[in-house]
Amino acid sequence: MASPRIQAGTAAETPPTLWDPVVRVTHWGIAASVLLNALLDEGGSVLHVTIGWIVMALLFLRMVWGVLGPVEARFSAFPPNPLAALRHLRQLATGRVRHYPSHNPAGALMAYAFWATLAVVTATGLIMTGGATPMQVAADKAAVASGDWSALIRDGEGASDEDESLGKAAKEVHDVAANLLLILAALHVAGVALESRAMRRNLVAAMLIGKRQR
Ligand code: HEM
Ligand code: HEM
Repeated sequence: MASPRIQAGTAAETPPTLWDPVVRVTHWGIAASVLLNALLDEGGSVLHVTIGWIVMALLFLRMVWGVLGPVEARFSAFPPNPLAALRHLRQLATGRVRHYPSHNPAGALMAYAFWATLAVVTATGLIMTGGATPMQVAADKAAVASGDWSALIRDGEGASDEDESLGKAAKEVHDVAANLLLILAALHVAGVALESRAMRRNLVAAMLIGKRQR
């Protein structure tokens, strides 16, 4: 297996013209889910929890792929390196960009920030719902609608003070992390646009179905 740490100028240093299907599906699946849950649906609804569980599954798949996937998708191809990220941003500002076999160091930091924040959002979501699956949440809501309030115990009603304060803290952290995801997304889209211009490449095409234009 070729090493992702390749010297400048070799052909293998060029990033993929098209990311593999797992990277593409997990990327667009997570991106769409974050935007839906943060902006469009009702927090805590069955749809919200269902989308949240889809995010968890996609995130898990991407983490496994980061170890077992093709070279450019592996974590070892884009290690988190803040100094290299700063250097890359400086180069970007002066127009002297170099190419990397995977994400550039600034893009890599952004990817890790997304994944860490997503882990916080999903963990706090699970705390708030007591780990209930979307089916359980739907059944609880149906029970409450038909007058059976016992289902609310899972949602915190009648819980101990300790459970209640954990639930409140989880909600606070969940809200802050969801907003952080939106801030990261705005920076990310701006970064992709800048990078595409500086490198004269269509990075979005490589993440979709087309090929990076050189
Ligand atoms: C909330 C929305 C979004 C999230 C959470 C997100 C997250 C991510 C993550 C985690 C990666 C790393 C991919 C991997 O290795 O698996 C990535 C890469 C990428 N994203 Fe997004 N993204 C979002 C929205 C977008 C949008 C709207 C665009 C299009 C303008 C976009 C374009 C890209 C591109 C082109 C890359 C690859 C960059 C490169 O070549 O290094 N993303 N994104
Ligand atoms: C893509 C990931 C997610 C995002 C961006 C997100 C975003 C949000 C936002 C912005 C709110 C506040 C809505 C409001 O104030 O009306 C919220 C509430 C909520 N979310 Fe999420 N969420 C995500 C994943 C999850 C997951 C995985 C679960 C559960 C397994 C979950 C469960 C909840 C619950 C129960 C509430 C209601 C909190 C309350 O008001 O008591 N979320 N979410």
